[in-house]
Amino acid sequence: MLKIINIVGARPNFMKIAPIVREMQRRANDFTPLVVHTGQHYDRAMSDSFFTDLGIPEPDYHLEIGSHSHAVQTARIMTAFEPVVLREKPDWVLVVGDVNSTIACALVCAKLGVKVAHVEAGLRSRDRTMPEEINRILTDAISDLLLTTSEDADENLKREGIPDEKIKFVGNVMIDSLFYNLERAKQLKVSENLGLTEREYAVSTLHRPSNVDDKEIFGGLLTALIAVSETLPVIFPAHPRTRANIERFGFAKQIENSNIRLIEPLGYLDFMNLYSGARLVLTDSGGLQEETTALSIPCLTLRENTERPITISHGTNVLVGTNPKRIKQAAFEILENESNSKDKKIPPLWDGRAAERICDCLSNSSSTFVG
Ligand code: UD1
Repeated sequence: MLKIINIVGARPNFMKIAPIVREMQRRANDFTPLVVHTGQHYDRAMSDSFFTDLGIPEPDYHLEIGSHSHAVQTARIMTAFEPVVLREKPDWVLVVGDVNSTIACALVCAKLGVKVAHVEAGLRSRDRTMPEEINRILTDAISDLLLTTSEDADENLKREGIPDEKIKFVGNVMIDSLFYNLERAKQLKVSENLGLTEREYAVSTLHRPSNVDDKEIFGGLLTALIAVSETLPVIFPAHPRTRANIERFGFAKQIENSNIRLIEPLGYLDFMNLYSGARLVLTDSGGLQEETTALSIPCLTLRENTERPITISHGTNVLVGTNPKRIKQAAFEILENESNSKDKKIPPLWDGRAAERICDCLSNSSSTFVG
């Protein structure tokens, strides 16, 4: 019997942990899963609603850390998590993704000699100004089992000197959640209640500090979105950071006068209902690049780099950067071409069964693990 502590902290973690915990519960003879929520995200729309939508069990521990500077947030998570590990003595701690909660909990375990499994290991944007890139590199360097979503991630890890036996290509657990919930999400009426017709609207999300904390860059991105919105409405659920900066930079009027519709962040199922019917998605989110690829929806990534190149080589993603002209041009190319997403393939092992392979790997690695 393996006791596993599963860590969640921020919005993009919840949909990755849900299928893993569900699979562990199904294999009750082999696994005792615990859930620890660090509280990095805490608003209902950023956290609680995901537990309900995804059926994640109530956390066994809630560390209630909240928002702080990177150093304070990371340090407080570590301080609060260490006694949990000492008390529970888990066989493994499982961390997902690249947020501050991921590195904080992995680092606690590495120092205590507790084994760490990192789900979504090996992704690299090669942009060290991104806080997530630092979290990825460091978490991978100290984890015992590196579970990857694509083979380019395996290559990145090998190049960094990580031994082959620690790396397991298991596929994309976020796509497990997507396929598991899609039919339920489609029954909802979010886009209908917004008066939208399928494939006749765009969806945009922006929340990266590099995009929304800089007035000039954010302003340029808005210019491009406004231009797109002249052809089809752009629905824009705004992250708290983004919403605050719209006010701070005085962009609210400009948005109000356009066909961009600023709405509150949506829950997991509500947002799936919205983006799954979109004609086009424009985003700086990592997860959404993958979800649009899995559903063959055209996606423009408003960043200079991506840690998820497979969504470009195998999927619908186009990396367009932050230059408004380039974004407009790419958007109109997509809108003018009716058939642009039909022949796209889904990347290998994005098949809805990654959680099963993750549990298999944990079982196998536990019987062969030598430290
Ligand atoms: C974090 C992750 C990022 C991920 C994003 C998804 C890190 C380094 N970054 O960024 O990788 O893509 O989550 O959402 O871990 N806030 C609220 N309510 C909340 C949470 C945050 O109002 O529930 C506001 C606070 O003003 C806070 C700010 O958002 O200061 C930033 O939150 P934080 O968790 O530090 O980082 P994110 O930008 O959300």
